[in-house]
Amino acid sequence: MITNTELEKKGNLFPKKMVSYEQDGDSISFVCENNVHLIITIVRDSMLRFRYATHGIFQDDFSYAIDEDQSHGYSVLEVLEDDEAVWIVTNQIKCRVLRSDLRIGIYDLDDNTILEDEIGFHWEESFEFGGNYVKMSKNTVDGENFYGMGDKPTSFNLKGKRFSNWNTDQYAFSKDTSELYKTIPFYIGLHHAKAYGIFFDNSFKTHFDFCHERRNITSFWADGGEMNYYFIYGPKISEVVTKYTNLTGRPELPPMWALGYHQSKWSYYPEDKVRDLAKSFRDNKFPCDALYLDIDYMEGFRCFTWNKKYFPKPKNMIQDLEEDGFKTIAIIDPGIKIDEEYEIYKDGLDKDYFCRRADGPLMRGKVWPGNCVFPDFTNPEVREWWAELYKTIIGETGIKGIWNDMNEPAVMEVPGKTFPLDVRHNYDGNHCSHRKAHNIYGMQMARATYEGVKKYMFPKRPFTITRASYSGGQRFSSTWTGDNLASWEHLWLANMQIQRLGISGFSYAGTDIGGFADQPSGELFARWIQLGVFHPFCRVHSSGDHGEQEPWYFGEEILDITRKFVELRYQLLPYLYTAFYQYCEENIPIIKPLVYYAQEDIQTHYRADEFIFGDSILVCPIQEPNAHGRRMYFPQGRWYNFWNDAIIEGGKELWVDAPLDSMPIFVKEGAMIPKYPVQQYVDEKEIDEISLDIYYKNGLDNAMLYEDSHDGYDYKMGIFNIRSFKFTGKVQEAFIQQHNTDAYNSNLKRIKIIFHGLPFEIKSAKVNNEETDLQNLQYNKEESSIVLPENFADLHIVG
Ligand code: GLC
Repeated sequence: MITNTELEKKGNLFPKKMVSYEQDGDSISFVCENNVHLIITIVRDSMLRFRYATHGIFQDDFSYAIDEDQSHGYSVLEVLEDDEAVWIVTNQIKCRVLRSDLRIGIYDLDDNTILEDEIGFHWEESFEFGGNYVKMSKNTVDGENFYGMGDKPTSFNLKGKRFSNWNTDQYAFSKDTSELYKTIPFYIGLHHAKAYGIFFDNSFKTHFDFCHERRNITSFWADGGEMNYYFIYGPKISEVVTKYTNLTGRPELPPMWALGYHQSKWSYYPEDKVRDLAKSFRDNKFPCDALYLDIDYMEGFRCFTWNKKYFPKPKNMIQDLEEDGFKTIAIIDPGIKIDEEYEIYKDGLDKDYFCRRADGPLMRGKVWPGNCVFPDFTNPEVREWWAELYKTIIGETGIKGIWNDMNEPAVMEVPGKTFPLDVRHNYDGNHCSHRKAHNIYGMQMARATYEGVKKYMFPKRPFTITRASYSGGQRFSSTWTGDNLASWEHLWLANMQIQRLGISGFSYAGTDIGGFADQPSGELFARWIQLGVFHPFCRVHSSGDHGEQEPWYFGEEILDITRKFVELRYQLLPYLYTAFYQYCEENIPIIKPLVYYAQEDIQTHYRADEFIFGDSILVCPIQEPNAHGRRMYFPQGRWYNFWNDAIIEGGKELWVDAPLDSMPIFVKEGAMIPKYPVQQYVDEKEIDEISLDIYYKNGLDNAMLYEDSHDGYDYKMGIFNIRSFKFTGKVQEAFIQQHNTDAYNSNLKRIKIIFHGLPFEIKSAKVNNEETDLQNLQYNKEESSIVLPENFADLHIVG
């Protein structure tokens, strides 16, 4: 061991006095006496990128996180100077760079402090690996709170927490486990009702400390690479999230069936069992769109093979299931079994596609198949090769979606549960060790899978799901939170994690409903389904070691309750699909934490159980056993109880009854919620009538409904509809106007409008300005509903 080296004695190093600066288009470079360089790039009026080089040499500028499509743009950029500092001024913010040591301060145009460096940038040289440990510390102001960071299993507000990011296979993780499956080094700070975001785009192991070590200091640092971060100004959390998601990308719209209910287990085999499972869903009239095959479908866990004993004719089985409305999803892991008889192993070896140790030997490690080698997914050629491997399983056998697992990458029976750090990676031509590539390995596997599935599913849309990922990985795949536990605490964690992922750009996420390890009671299972149907990805999965986890396993009562909630999800599909559209096109998260929804209300800063599903449904899961209800917080405004239309004035906490067959669900006044009839699977029925539940409000409100063919790419050519609805409620009358972009010819013929909370009885109606007999509108007094042709332009009802 080397001690007392020159390097070690140096400790932290800091930028010295600024000696010069220079503007080149959208970038301003600063140079210090000790040759520290800083480049600030104005990405947008409200987004600045900071990059530091300690010896004047920047690395090649390459990131897996940043979406290539994202364009730069700002309207105002001024560089000013005074004795103390250089100032960069945009249309939205001012950035001060101190001449003494490059410390940064960011202010709004009214000179309010948004974020200031404490020590600011500093570093420690790494003798062992070369390069630096790069560090940053910021002042935290009184009352500041923090959110984001992907899948961290902890309370929603991150103040007081400290985490690192190193993708890890954490079986049965617990509350506050620091390193999970994903690395999303992005957080949001909120103080004085204003929010900003920090995205530290560094794939080495990163660390974040939110006032844990020192009371008023937030810091982040990495074990290597560059101090390279983006500052994103809101001032609304929603704007920070949208800008971050725009920077790192969003997925394509998934096929609608992928929004249905999915059933998985480790493992459903042989074929008879899978067929029985499908039959049970239909017999029990329990809606379901997808069934999963875990590792046992393979021959000795060799990826892209079939166990012929268990699945003699997979193609036939998959086809039969499809005719019955089920899509079959199969798991694919990264570990390729070392076996001279195995084509994929031989081919990968010939082509030199597997990861190697620093001195040349192959990286070997144990996973399910025994000793394995691992494709280097950071090599573009390897990704292409991997994508082609889906030709048979997707293109020929008919599997409809791929589930990537163990891609942290996980290795069994070794310390650290992953590759040793010396393993080499291509990193798209920026050759590096596993220290740099570890956190993006799973994301690049998911990317290669996505490319392959997309190619062979064409002209249909791909569906993929991955366990490991990095910021920006949402472009390629949905995700789940890994191996959780059937416990009440994990139900709470599930709620925190999916909301957290949502504001970290990764909306299409869910948990193993019911818990992966251990077995849930019927009550826990029912409560978890109640939460799970409001998560963008909705799948029951379990290890299979602890008993069954199909909805009928828990007896009639639980079956009825869970069916009722899954049916509700299927009814809400047009609403959820519209929320997906808004996510995929406009970077808006599908579920919204309360603090996102109402950041000006301090009550929401620590409230985390409640969230908004889509844009107008307030949900609050029951997370404790034997509960008959709970207290929950209602943001400002008026809320309708979904079950009985009782109205609640928001801005306070209230008790809400919720026996096991119910849960607190509320709808914002003015909401217009499109609903389908219940189906057993997506597109089971030709739907010619949808309902639009209108929650009366005295005033104006708007809503939209997105419609397309539910799959395929016609929508990319503009073949979709956006129906915009405008509601105007008065004391004795109400108006509903519809505008339809009308490019897609749907089966829809009628819209049934169901009024909730209408303060008057409908006496007369005009449709498109013409007096129309209420009978012709199928007026139902009890239900307060009328039926209109789908293309109505406006409705005027009078009491
Ligand atoms: C991992 C996955 C789990 C899967 C199992 C077997 O533990 O997280 O979902 O069932 O491996 O493939």
